[in-house]
Amino acid sequence: MSATGYQVKWLQDRYLYDAEARETHRLEDWLEAHPQSVYRIYDLGAGLASNFRFWNSRIPSEQEWSLIEIDPVLIEAGKAYLPENNAQIRVQYAQGDFVAFLAHHTPPDLLLCNALLDVLTAEQMVFLLDYLWMHQVPLLASINYHGMEFNPSLPEDHPYVLAYEAHMERIQPSGRALGRSLDAFLTTIQGPYQVIRDPSPWHIPADDPEMLFQILQFMAVAVPEVLPADEHPAFEQWLQYRKSQVEAGQLNIMVHHYDAWITKNKKNLG
Ligand SMILES: C[S@@+](CC[C@H](N)C(=O)[O-])C[C@H]1O[C@@H](n2cnc3c(N)ncnc32)[C@H](O)[C@@H]1O
Repeated sequence: MSATGYQVKWLQDRYLYDAEARETHRLEDWLEAHPQSVYRIYDLGAGLASNFRFWNSRIPSEQEWSLIEIDPVLIEAGKAYLPENNAQIRVQYAQGDFVAFLAHHTPPDLLLCNALLDVLTAEQMVFLLDYLWMHQVPLLASINYHGMEFNPSLPEDHPYVLAYEAHMERIQPSGRALGRSLDAFLTTIQGPYQVIRDPSPWHIPADDPEMLFQILQFMAVAVPEVLPADEHPAFEQWLQYRKSQVEAGQLNIMVHHYDAWITKNKKNLG
């Protein structure tokens, strides 16, 4: 477990699901419309360098990446994924809070973040939006949580998924994470900002029991913290039933996400 609570193994396991789910056209179109000899890119909450790994071969020229990550444990593990000597693609981690980093460094050409926005507080989001506004830098924020579906479905799924989502928005030492409220937040900024959302769901098939168990395990920890105590036995029963379905190869789960391409709206440029 890392200092921020993200397990190295979880970030490794999710990489391929993210890679399959990502929508690439918004950024590819932007790259084509904004040719540069060197692209300067900041990745916020970089974890194990997932954005770098996914994008560097898809960007058609030299690149200079800063991977901003607050957690030194993840940085140590993430360094294994970086090229040693590549003059064309330069990349380094910067340890610290992305808010402080952005405040003290020259703006890049492009901001990326993967699986970050829904864990931010409203205050951090406002900072980020002010930054996009001031520096007119686009942000591709991929893989933002947007719900979960079990197949086959049960009527009990819905309240437990709601409890899981309420848990995402609990108050933590850093504040209250936006969680599902990110949807509403992004809707309110439409107009001054252009926010284009593309679905990027994970399809976790019945033959990946490890990933299915991991999702159920996240729920096993989160849901009881939110559900009234008298509902715990029914939740436990549901959980055991879902686990038995995973063991029998009879459950698949869809985790809905969306990728958000966020820019200052051109019609507001002075
Ligand atoms: C859900 S993980 C995603 C990691 C990575 N982007 C990926 O796709 O695998 C969120 C990451 O954001 C980092 N993080 C959270 N708040 C941060 C902050 N204020 N500044 C820098 N990193 C932060 C966490 O330590 C964690 O690595």
